Amino acid sequence: MVERPRGQIAPPPLLHMETNMKIVSETGSHNAAVEKLVAEAFGPDRFAKTVYRLRNGIEAEASLSLVALDKGEVVGTLRFWPIEIEGGVPALLLGPLVTAPERQGEGIGSRLMKAGLARAAEQGHRIVVLVGDEPYYRRFGFTRALARRLSLPGWVDPARFLARELVSGALAGVAGMIGHPGMEAVPAGGKVRQAA
Ligand SMILES: CC(C)(COP(=O)(O)OP(=O)(O)OC[C@H]1O[C@@H](n2cnc3c(N)ncnc32)[C@H](O)[C@@H]1OP(=O)(O)O)[C@@H](O)C(=O)NCCC(=O)NCCS
Repeated sequence: MVERPRGQIAPPPLLHMETNMKIVSETGSHNAAVEKLVAEAFGPDRFAKTVYRLRNGIEAEASLSLVALDKGEVVGTLRFWPIEIEGGVPALLLGPLVTAPERQGEGIGSRLMKAGLARAAEQGHRIVVLVGDEPYYRRFGFTRALARRLSLPGWVDPARFLARELVSGALAGVAGMIGHPGMEAVPAGGKVRQAA
């Protein structure tokens, strides 16, 4: 046991993720591990979901694609996609965000979110939308209210359609359908049960 002068409080034990985990830009060498994490989290049905159809045909923003690495192993992933809101307003679609099941609850998702949003703001992006669990994403400033005048090209549960401004007021007066940059038509989907 370490002797301490009277009154000195012992520092808290270091968490595993604090010592070993780092957030870095995704590179090609991470791709297979990222796809595996996403496939395990969302299953084969994911491709029918509205957000997947929206991502189809466009590339994720390479400079905003992040992975959480621990000793070289990918333990988390976050990507952003360029989209456009009717009227020519550029925005980002966030997702998927996944933490490896055995590493959930260590703050990896939060670190990916904070790093990704900070980087997006630094790059001058102003609006981010996502489809996901509001009880999780509200801690990062996402609300249903900010998305209420926006629409996606397919069914989503309105309770899960969220937006966040990276610049205060960026969504003021913005309304309408979300599509690909340049507002190319997004292919219609088949039967869509749920979006995430
Ligand atoms: C959602 C997810 C990315 C969170 O990652 P994580 O690294 O565990 O997150 P953090 O450690 O930063 O945060 C954990 C906290 O979020 C909470 N949380 C996790 N998932 C949540 C959810 N779906 N709804 C509400 N809260 C959630 C945990 O209860 C925990 O709360 P606490 O801080 O009060 O203890 C992870 O659970 C995951 O990969 N899930 C499967 C894929 C998924 O659902 N992705 C999100 C798309 S909606």
